[in-house]
Amino acid sequence: VIDAEQGVSEQTRRHAYLLSLLGLSQVVVAINKMDLVGYDQGRFAAVAAEIGDYLGGIGIAARQILPIAARHGENVAKPATLMPWWQGGTLVEALDSFKRRPSPIDRPLRLPIQDIYRRDDRRILVGRIESGRLRVGDTLSFSPGGGTARVTTIESWNSGPHLSAGAGRSVAITLNEPLFVERGHIASHAEASPQRALRLRARLFWLSREPLEIGATLTLKLTTASHTVVVEAIERVIDVQDLQHHDARRIEHNGVAEVILKSRTPVIFDPFSDNQITGRGVLVQGFELVGGCILDAAAALPEADAHARQDGAGGNLTPVASSVDPAMRAANLGHTGGVLWLTGLSGAGKSTLAMALQRRLFERGFQASVLDGDNLRQGLNSDLGFTPEARAENIRRTAEVARLFADTGVIAIVSLISPFAADRSRAREIVGPAFLEIHVKASLDTCRTRDPKGLYARAGKGEIANFTGVSAPYEAPVDPDLVIDTDRYDIEASLALLLEEVEACFRFEPVRSHGTV
Ligand code: ADX
Repeated sequence: VIDAEQGVSEQTRRHAYLLSLLGLSQVVVAINKMDLVGYDQGRFAAVAAEIGDYLGGIGIAARQILPIAARHGENVAKPATLMPWWQGGTLVEALDSFKRRPSPIDRPLRLPIQDIYRRDDRRILVGRIESGRLRVGDTLSFSPGGGTARVTTIESWNSGPHLSAGAGRSVAITLNEPLFVERGHIASHAEASPQRALRLRARLFWLSREPLEIGATLTLKLTTASHTVVVEAIERVIDVQDLQHHDARRIEHNGVAEVILKSRTPVIFDPFSDNQITGRGVLVQGFELVGGCILDAAAALPEADAHARQDGAGGNLTPVASSVDPAMRAANLGHTGGVLWLTGLSGAGKSTLAMALQRRLFERGFQASVLDGDNLRQGLNSDLGFTPEARAENIRRTAEVARLFADTGVIAIVSLISPFAADRSRAREIVGPAFLEIHVKASLDTCRTRDPKGLYARAGKGEIANFTGVSAPYEAPVDPDLVIDTDRYDIEASLALLLEEVEACFRFEPVRSHGTV
């Protein structure tokens, strides 16, 4: 809607640009407040030409550009009487001419996996069918894992078994083979599977007040998947005023740009023009929504030469692909790798629980290993103290090491005070989806009373600077994956909770066809 008196404003251009960014192709422009310009045909023609040109420049052909005076209902639902020169029909007629998008049921099957439940010996995959149709007996292919299996059953909430289910329905399915499937994977039919890329060109709309800069790390959420992505390049920033493209190193608040994102994990998607759900993502930093993006047909970029870092910090690096992938390791070990990140005050019981858990997991056949703050600080991190910056580095290094462990199929049990939420969320970004934040919780009074190392007493006398809980803060997790309240639970009860979590999150039934066990 454009004000006939004001003409095409910056706001108009921004909104029009968003239409193209969102892939909306059916557009009608109403030039409103014709009463304020005396229903002048010349004024209408001038504004219409200007917006028509602008839309043409961004690849949108308006279905119609028409004059209205909403205040008087002129040419809204009833034909114009005060603009006898206009014969092009009313706004309502124009809206009625919009064509319905084909129902997503006619499109290729896309079932993003939301969760996997284990009931008895069954693995139940749940998610919402975003497009297409699924039948019992269909062979499904899972991206990015690549495994295939046949659908044995389809169920949905509060209704019996189904023979088939279509777009829009949330379903629980079982397969004839236990595949390695995780939240974020997408089920499709093998002959029409989605695209996959580690490097992507995305059209992005930036919402954060802080500008986006090259090298920034973000979380890309696409369907049920979360990917840690780094902004490798800002290809161009689009000035919505004149549609000029500019070279820029940053994207300001409300800016629109084309960027190249590099992901640590394969991003599974469809071009937005094919599938609006699997082609559109949001960008998150910490807990804040900072942008939106769409992936178009040219989104997938080759991975070769992708790795020369632009920031000069460690240029000319090319990651070497592993010769053993996570599914092979999981099939061998009977569990996937991951990180249990125990955070809490000194004396809350982190190290005690970490060591006891390691022992129990070992006895159950899990490969588990403890990374304890006190121990790491005597080697890898012996150059670090307890300022917020030093702790951030302590946590970053530990997270990188934990990730290496998890990548080799091991369950890393990290025991670090890790008092700052931002540091922990960076650790989660480093590790990826196999990260569980576990708050080992005890009141400060309890920790003071326990004081196993006599540190609270010394800190109280001022002998230790920046002591967490005394002279430095502890930011408790807001939404941890698990809370172990050691004020209430003894070691056995705490261990039971932890073991249950590990079994639920990391236990993996080997795929028979691998033949590796
Ligand atoms: S973190 O904050 O960087 O995560 P980390 O868990 O590695 O800390 O180290 C905490 C251990 O260092 C404590 O268990 C304690 O033994 C010791 N320590 C020494 N000085 C401090 C301090 N100022 N604050 C907390 N812990 C300290």
